[in-house]
Amino acid sequence: TMVWAAALIQYYIRGYVVPSPSSDPYAWGDMFPSCHPLLEEHHSPINLDHQMTRNESLGSLHLEGFDVIQTGLWTVKNDGHSVVLQVGNGMSVSGGGLPDVYHTIQLHFHWGGPATNGSEHTVDRRRYPMEMHVVNMKSIHPNMTAALDDPTGLAVLGFFLDVSERTRPFPLMNLLPKHNMSQYYRYYGGLTTPPCSQVVVWTLYEVPIYISWSQLAQFTSQIFSTEEDAKQVTPLQNNFRHIHPTFSRIVSVSKEAKLLTGTSGRPLGSDVSLQLLPILLLGSLISGL
Ligand SMILES: *[C@@H]1O[C@H](CO)[C@@H](O)[C@H](O)[C@H]1NC(C)=O
Ligand SMILES: *[C@@H]1O[C@H](CO)[C@@H](O)[C@H](O)[C@H]1NC(C)=O
Ligand SMILES: *[C@@H]1O[C@H](CO)[C@@H](O)[C@H](O)[C@H]1NC(C)=O
Ligand SMILES: *[C@@H]1O[C@H](CO)[C@@H](O)[C@H](O)[C@H]1NC(C)=O
Ligand SMILES: [Zn+2]
Repeated sequence: TMVWAAALIQYYIRGYVVPSPSSDPYAWGDMFPSCHPLLEEHHSPINLDHQMTRNESLGSLHLEGFDVIQTGLWTVKNDGHSVVLQVGNGMSVSGGGLPDVYHTIQLHFHWGGPATNGSEHTVDRRRYPMEMHVVNMKSIHPNMTAALDDPTGLAVLGFFLDVSERTRPFPLMNLLPKHNMSQYYRYYGGLTTPPCSQVVVWTLYEVPIYISWSQLAQFTSQIFSTEEDAKQVTPLQNNFRHIHPTFSRIVSVSKEAKLLTGTSGRPLGSDVSLQLLPILLLGSLISGL
């Protein structure tokens, strides 16, 4: 499996040419009116500060099929904004205040550069090195077009990725904050890439996933973006959208969230254990480049 998959990611990441939209998020509004912050008020990402509201009814989400090997064809590609792992059927999320069951369709990453951080959401203005998004579509919808017409058509799970000097490289799969999945923030926002549709129920986990510096470097310097007529490839970097105001939105805090500040959430070593097989696959693929 690793062999064919490694070949596949090489092909897509090095060979795929991505046309517009512009890589400058401030210019997206020209081509996609709903990306224009002055016309629409429920944009993402936002800064998560301590003006949040505890909601005792927000318990852990139910992640179905995340800890088993899924069958079916998965594909990895560089879509020009990120590395996207498109998953097959069999994974879903529900509970935790979500209005329905949502089927998992893909996951992808946002990052900065060799010396800059690139999470999309910030916590007390701090930007983490990376952010992973697990994108889920409401199960009643047959396709993305229909989901983008529903104000809660998508549910995205966001995980911050931080670096830890204490650890040697390991598969990302080993890193989900399994014991801290009940600690999260919730707000209603939108897609952070065009068409910026305001249809996303966001869940942001407060305890980050820890990776090594070398794993971070795989993202910041080993993945390339290519302009259609460019003679050379350039590293795909800083693929995060700017922060937006919350306006009148309430940002909720789950029952067990701790409202961590600064560096209080450091790695727990072997205590942090693992699920979410796609991450193992993608982690291995990226490392294999
Ligand atoms: C708390 O969360 C539940 C589930 O999402 C929601 O129905 C309720 O309105 C929320 N309460 C407040 C005060 O926001
Ligand atoms: C970037 O991330 C590193 C590693 O976690 C952290 O030490 C640093 O404070 C972050 N920088 C900013 C500007 O948030
Ligand atoms: C998406 O689903 C809607 C609602 O069922 C349907 O009307 C539409 O034709 C579908 N679009 C595509 C591109 O399949
Ligand atoms: C993660 O969860 C464990 C077990 O509930 C808890 O003891 C620990 O304090 C949590 N970690 C953080 C950083 O909140
Ligand atoms: Zn994203």
